[in-house]
Amino acid sequence: MKFFLAFLSLTTLGFAEKPDGAQLFTTNCSACHMLDEMIVGPSLAEIRSIYNGKPDDFLKWCVKPSKKRPNVIEMPSMVHVGDEGLREIYAHVMKVADGVKVKEAKKGDPYVSSPVQTKRPQIQRIFMPNAGPAAVAVALDSTMSLCWDAGECRLRYSWNGGFIDGYPYWQGNGSSLAKVLGSIRYVEARSPFENAVEPKFAGYRIEKGLPVFKYQLGDRLITESFSAIANGGGFNRSFTLTPTPSAPVVLNFPEDQKVAYTSDKGKWTGSTLTLKGADTAAFTINVTFK
Ligand code: HEC
Repeated sequence: MKFFLAFLSLTTLGFAEKPDGAQLFTTNCSACHMLDEMIVGPSLAEIRSIYNGKPDDFLKWCVKPSKKRPNVIEMPSMVHVGDEGLREIYAHVMKVADGVKVKEAKKGDPYVSSPVQTKRPQIQRIFMPNAGPAAVAVALDSTMSLCWDAGECRLRYSWNGGFIDGYPYWQGNGSSLAKVLGSIRYVEARSPFENAVEPKFAGYRIEKGLPVFKYQLGDRLITESFSAIANGGGFNRSFTLTPTPSAPVVLNFPEDQKVAYTSDKGKWTGSTLTLKGADTAAFTINVTFK
């Protein structure tokens, strides 16, 4: 049941107006379904080939999915999205997958048959240790991963080594947490922004397989995205602020971590970065492990 609630809370997070099919798809389905490739579930191209012209059957499946393919987890019911929302998702899927070919999964690819997925990069909506119920686990590459909390709109921690073992979670129908496979190298206790206001999650889009998180902090829309520094050396973290503030922006990163901070803009004082308002239109911070 926890599982169900997690998806529920993510759909209702931060949407003032009724979201459209693309938005609903991103928050409810994109963790498990990609356009042209099987990840946790089948690709949209495959889904289109089964359900084109059959919106009612599509809805039936989403509300009450069954066990169909071997070696995959059972899809959780999407009943909380509602018929109207599912119809919008249906229209979105049929449109984006039109003419798209399914990429063949390599034979013997453990990713296809194992719940411990090895594909990189990768995003999973899953219950994680030391995070809120709306956690997103992201594998940046084969050695760098992180946990981003869509409830509090902030990075929780990042680690080196493997990705996650979701098996306890999927098996327990959401009653357990996924396991971090590797060693935690960096932890943040709060958002680096001096946020007097509650952040509002505004969904994420996927670029080159990696998420670009969007959230509202007061009257500002922030995007936050990540990439790996080679060989598990750390990660880069890019932000954009719109509209850009006229006053300087101060970001406070934790002092007690075994990392070095650098950035393409602004001035550092210890682990505090001060940026001119205009520089916040786009800036990147490099967190290098010591
Ligand atoms: C937690 C992962 C997960 C999420 C989230 C998820 N799905 Fe699935 N989905 C699966 C898996 C796994 C399968 C394959 C199940 C099987 O074949 O036994 C699947 C299969 C499907 C299928 C194919 C059914 C068929 O007849 O083969 C459709 C359609 C589908 N999902 C739609 C959706 C939609 C729409 C959403 C979002 C509203 C969604 N899924 C969210 C995991 C997920």
